[in-house]
Amino acid sequence: MKHETINHRRRSLLQAGAALASLPSWGLAADGKGREVLLRAGIFDQRLDPAQEALTQVWGFNNEFPGPVLRYRKGARVAHRLVNELRQETTLHWHGMRVPNAMDGVSMVTQAAVPGGGHFDYRFALRDSGTFWYHPHHNSFEQVPRGLYGAFIVEEERPPEVDREEVWVLSDMRLDEGRQQIEDFGRLRDIGNEGRIGNLLLLNGTVTGPERQWSVRSGERLRLRLINAASARTFRLLWPGLTAMLIALDGQGIVPRPLPPEGLELGSGMRADLIVDCLAAPGSQLQVLDRGRGERVLIGCQVRDESPLRKKPLGAPMRLAANDIAEPDLARAVDHYIMFQGGMRGGPVIGMVDGKPTKIHELIEQHGLAWTMNFTAQHEHALMHEPMLGVRQGEHVLLHLINETDYSHPMHLHGHFFRVVAVNGKRYAHPDEWRDTVMMAPRTSLDIAFVADNPGEWMFHCHILDHAAGGMMGTIAVDS
Ligand code: C2O
Ligand code: CU
Repeated sequence: MKHETINHRRRSLLQAGAALASLPSWGLAADGKGREVLLRAGIFDQRLDPAQEALTQVWGFNNEFPGPVLRYRKGARVAHRLVNELRQETTLHWHGMRVPNAMDGVSMVTQAAVPGGGHFDYRFALRDSGTFWYHPHHNSFEQVPRGLYGAFIVEEERPPEVDREEVWVLSDMRLDEGRQQIEDFGRLRDIGNEGRIGNLLLLNGTVTGPERQWSVRSGERLRLRLINAASARTFRLLWPGLTAMLIALDGQGIVPRPLPPEGLELGSGMRADLIVDCLAAPGSQLQVLDRGRGERVLIGCQVRDESPLRKKPLGAPMRLAANDIAEPDLARAVDHYIMFQGGMRGGPVIGMVDGKPTKIHELIEQHGLAWTMNFTAQHEHALMHEPMLGVRQGEHVLLHLINETDYSHPMHLHGHFFRVVAVNGKRYAHPDEWRDTVMMAPRTSLDIAFVADNPGEWMFHCHILDHAAGGMMGTIAVDS
C-alpha cells in the first residue's frame, strides 16, 4: 500500500510539473501576497488515545488527523492543491467561506471529483475573517467521519486582545474494540435516524474524558475557536467555573453575550468563538462538559498553581469587526418555501425519486433515501440534474423552512451567510447573527433571509451527512 501511495504522489507531481514551475515552494509565501499549500488526502495510522497502544487507521491530510490548521490574514489570496492519495474520488470544500462557485468543491455540482492519483487546485481570495473548516464534499458521509477535515482560520485585521488562542476541532468516531472504524457507513438505520453517531469523542483528534487535562492560568484570557466536525453529533458545551462569552458564530462576530445556562449548542458544521476568562483560584480543578447526549466530561481543566496573570480581569470582550455582508431587506424579499419530511419516526411520506412518486418504505428499502425536501429525495448523483430553487443574482431571498420531521437538522447554505428572521413565525432573539449553518428543531419552521449575491449553483443541505446522503440535499441556483 505504501508503494502505491508513493507512486500516486510521484505521478501527480509529474502531472503537475508545469504548475510546479510557477509555484516554487509549497507552504511558503510565493510572492508575499499568496501562498501555495499542498493538501494530500491519504490513509495512515494514528494513536487517538495516548494511554493505549492501539493505532487507528484514519483518513487525513498530510499524514495529520485532523488536517493541518490553515491560518491566514483576511484579504490574502490563497492556493491549495488537493492531491488525492485515497482509493476513491474526493474533493475539498471550504465550509462557510464565500468563494467563487468553481472553487466550492462540490462533486457533480461545481467540479468533477478528483480521482485517486489526481489533483485539483483551489485558488481564491479570503473575503471574510472567521473560523472556518475544510472537508471533502464527495461521499462526505464516509470521508468526513474517517477523518478528512481541518480548521481554516482567517484572522481579523484587528483581533481582540487575548493571552492565548486555541482551536478545538470537536468530532467523534465509531470504533470497535480494536479501535478500528466500524465499517457501517451509509447504514439505513443511521440515515433514517440521527445519523452515524460515534462512540468516541475527540478533541483535535485525541480522545476526551476526565483524564485528559487542559491547563489554564488564573487571570488568563483565551480565545477558543470551536468547530464541530462530527458528521452527525450535536454538542452542548459548558465551561463551569470559567467566564465564557460568545463573540462569533459560524465565524461572524455577534454582540458578545454570555453562553446560555443550558450550554452552547453546536450542530454539525457549526463554529463558535469564545472569549474565556479564568477567574478561578490557582490550583482549582474544573471540567468542561458536553451535554449533547447525556452529560460527559469533555476534558478536565487544571488551573495551574501559579500566581494569577493579572489582578483584575480584562475589560469586556470587544466586538469583532463585521465582514462585508449584504443586508437582506425583508420589505422587498421574494418568498420561497422548503418543506422537509421523512425519517424513520414520523408520518408516512411520499417522495419523488428520479421523477417517480415513491412511498417512504420503498424510498428507504429500494433507494437508500429517507428524507425529502419539497417532496423530492435526491441521490448525490442526481445533483447534476436540476436545482431545487432558482433565484436571480441580487435577489433578496426569504426562505421559509418547514420541518415536518421529528428530527433536528443543522441546515447549511453554501456561498452565502444568512440572517435567522423567525422561529415558528416569532421574531428570532438574535438578529445580530449571521449564520451559514442553523439548527432546525423538530416540527419547527424557520425563516432565513439573505441576498443572493454570489452567482452559481450552491448546495443547501443538512449537515448530518447521513441525512444529506439520504436525500436531504439540493441546490439553489443564483443566476447572473
Ligand atoms: Cu460542511 Cu456542504 O458542507
Ligand atoms: Cu438532517
